[in-house]
Amino acid sequence: MPPTPVLETPRLVLRPVCRKDAAVIQRRFPKWEIVRWLDAKIPWPYPADGAATYVSSCLEEMARGHKSHWAIVPKSGPANLIGIIDLWPDDGVSRSQRGFWLASEFQGKGLMMEAAERVTQYAFHDLDWPHLWLTNAQDNHPSRRIKERQGARLVDLMIGEHVGGRGPRMVWLLTQENWMARQAA
Ligand SMILES: CC(C)(COP(=O)(O)OP(=O)(O)OC[C@H]1O[C@@H](n2cnc3c(N)ncnc32)[C@H](O)[C@@H]1OP(=O)(O)O)[C@@H](O)C(=O)NCCC(=O)NCCS
Repeated sequence: MPPTPVLETPRLVLRPVCRKDAAVIQRRFPKWEIVRWLDAKIPWPYPADGAATYVSSCLEEMARGHKSHWAIVPKSGPANLIGIIDLWPDDGVSRSQRGFWLASEFQGKGLMMEAAERVTQYAFHDLDWPHLWLTNAQDNHPSRRIKERQGARLVDLMIGEHVGGRGPRMVWLLTQENWMARQAA
């Protein structure tokens, strides 16, 4: 992937994750209501150096062009990040190309839908990717709604390992053609 660009939406700035974000991530991220539906590869209980390790891996993945990791910063403040959204190419196996989380106090305001639409525009317009594979735990209603509202098609239901335990995981496909047609309509 090319160097992670700064992206904007009406209410948000999405900028590449940087080293100084670790302290804020360590404070905002390790909450049960945030991690419970995320992939079980996230260490739980979250270690004291969890965010520092995570940020190091983000910087390495971005330097190698493997993934993009954006800090989500609201234009109206606070000045530091309130969540993260990531994007990576289709590896042909894992059927997953995007991840996101938002601190609890900022949820339910349509902010992640806004961030997801902007990152999708980047993937389809700038990178010219033909599709995005997306996943969520079946009971993760807010995440599921974002896929539905973006026009993704549910293509599979598998069993996933989440921080909160093993359970059904939905697999969605969002095509460039469909998404662009919806934008034009
Ligand atoms: C998933 C997540 C990022 C959604 O962020 P958000 O900014 O709150 O989402 P939005 O405000 O854009 O809302 C998306 C939809 O979920 C609904 N929603 C939001 N919070 C909700 C809640 N607590 N309970 C039920 N529905 C909720 C919204 O009403 C909206 O649905 P609608 O289109 O029918 O109105 C956020 O809930 C989160 O960080 N969860 C923990 C981490 C996570 O699960 N990440 C995704 C892993 S696949």
